[in-house]
Amino acid sequence: MADRRTAAGQDWSAEGYAAHAGFVPALGATVRDLLDPQPGERILDLGCGDGVLTETLAESGAVITGLEPDPSLADAARRRGLVLLQQDAQDPFGSGAYDAVFSNAALHWMPDPARVFANVFAALRPGGRFVAEQGGFGNVAAVVTGLRAALQIHGHAIPEPGPWDFPLPRLQQARLERAGFNVISVDLIARPTPLPTGIAGWLETFAAPYLTGIPAPERPDVLKTVETLLHPLRDDAGDWWADYVRLRFVALKPG
Ligand code: BEZ
Repeated sequence: MADRRTAAGQDWSAEGYAAHAGFVPALGATVRDLLDPQPGERILDLGCGDGVLTETLAESGAVITGLEPDPSLADAARRRGLVLLQQDAQDPFGSGAYDAVFSNAALHWMPDPARVFANVFAALRPGGRFVAEQGGFGNVAAVVTGLRAALQIHGHAIPEPGPWDFPLPRLQQARLERAGFNVISVDLIARPTPLPTGIAGWLETFAAPYLTGIPAPERPDVLKTVETLLHPLRDDAGDWWADYVRLRFVALKPG
């Protein structure tokens, strides 16, 4: 992703995402149920990625539009037949055009939540709802600690601030209220998550923002150190889990 306002260094590959992170849309059923899409509703899926979860929203009979800035993921979503806005969510995307805005596992990549929330507020009709799940406070804290420790051990700078926004419920509630929303619920939920291709696959897919400053030939050694440090994330069968924590919220634009 080459946009100046998305996490530096993160380039997506739709194939890599499907192989290493297929659990992300698969575990989106809870927030989709919270959205409860209705036939004929106009719904925007903010940061729809490759469109796997978006496609299931359409099964309700709602009219779905995806928003995705990354070219590889946007192409994958289009190949599923989705109508797509290929743009950054920090730029405006409509005025009163949607009954609901939905988002799964995307908001934590966006460095300017105030802008995103202002854009969501503008894009909703009065009475419209914003239903989202993202990483919450403490999300992948062990993985982040492993990355930071490995960078230090190998003599590399630690990116500050980190690339991801994992807010406490009270912070996200304050941001939503500042944008004009009435907040109905904000919940923080621990969700240890099995990693189908281990920590190596997860790091390959998501850790690029921590690796951009490191010359390519040195990266494998750094990643080996991360993997060694993170051995406590393996279960009794030797399978890897990540310490995911989700933040899930429902907010309404006053009618
Ligand atoms: C998440 O979905 O929680 C996540 C994704 C990428 C990096 C870190 C966390």
